[in-house]
Amino acid sequence: MTQTLTLRRPDDWHLHLRDGAMLQAVLPETARHFARAIIMPNLVPPVVTGDQAAAYRDRIMAALPDGMTFEPLMTLYLTEDTDPDDVAQAAASGLVKAVKLYPAGATTNSASGVRDFDKVRPVLERMADIGLPLCVHGEVTDADIDIFDREAVFIDRVLDPVRRATPGLRVVMEHITTANGVDYVKSNDTDLGATITTHHLIINRNHILVGGIKPHYYCLPVAKREEHRLALRAAATSGDDRFFLGTDSAPHTDALKEHPCGCAGCFTATNTMALLAHVFEEENALDKLEGFASRNGPGFYKLPVNIDTITLTKSETATKFPAKIDMGEGTVTVFDPGFPVYWNVTA
Ligand code: DOR
Ligand code: ZN
Repeated sequence: MTQTLTLRRPDDWHLHLRDGAMLQAVLPETARHFARAIIMPNLVPPVVTGDQAAAYRDRIMAALPDGMTFEPLMTLYLTEDTDPDDVAQAAASGLVKAVKLYPAGATTNSASGVRDFDKVRPVLERMADIGLPLCVHGEVTDADIDIFDREAVFIDRVLDPVRRATPGLRVVMEHITTANGVDYVKSNDTDLGATITTHHLIINRNHILVGGIKPHYYCLPVAKREEHRLALRAAATSGDDRFFLGTDSAPHTDALKEHPCGCAGCFTATNTMALLAHVFEEENALDKLEGFASRNGPGFYKLPVNIDTITLTKSETATKFPAKIDMGEGTVTVFDPGFPVYWNVTA
């Protein structure tokens, strides 16, 4: 029996589009289903100033194929030299919708990130004044902290102290991967939300390591134990409007993923909506998918919900997603959930 589900068009509240040929190749994968996305600024060099964000937005729009619509919601990469006035101007003009905090060394292209949080206090205070959200990559990077504990330690050592020191600062905990992250969001009433990726609802750390190392499941924050995946599933499908979709779709060429020092990132833009329908159906929560993918994010960012819709259809034969996206100089592997999926976006 065919089943359909129509939702307000979704948005992606955490997306890596890169630049140049990669941008050209991956942008249609997102624009096909999503109206808007929060665009990560971790290019080389990073997008730090309002002028750089405007130029990047123009390159994104120039890469958009004719006939497609898409609105990039730009972010600035927070450094210890970020100028509060530049941030405030870029926000006031409507160009920039958030500032991104990467702890130095946390992930791909994060060398310019923050080491000393006192140095960014004036920027955070200005952001609290003007209501501009801070998107946080929540991992400590100290060498003595186990990689599987990075998120929980970050909450205690960095996030909670920063939030207490900056009342009114609106924070999105990006791509939470633990029950600790879920609990921290739930224990706070205001000014705190979290994005959850598609892949962290599907894989745990066994998927990366059991039966041979699977580089296409390696991302940061790294997937954790099964109990954490289940906590993320419960949060995403609960209807709690503090949790919303941020795919963290992060393309790297196969040559760089299948490498002795493989890059972190799962590329999920192509099949995210179908995979989410599968996950939400498994949790008997198809009625909560629209909140997670299309309503809670605009709610947090104080933006209107999209007016148009997408329709997902479940059929009797498994959906065939492309295994790879060709980007000219190499391919990008599309996230493989490891099980058949019967949903697809049909309109
Ligand atoms: O897996 C990841 N890939 N996590 C990040 O935080 C960055 C991203 C990337 O840019 O490749
Ligand atoms: Zn990311």
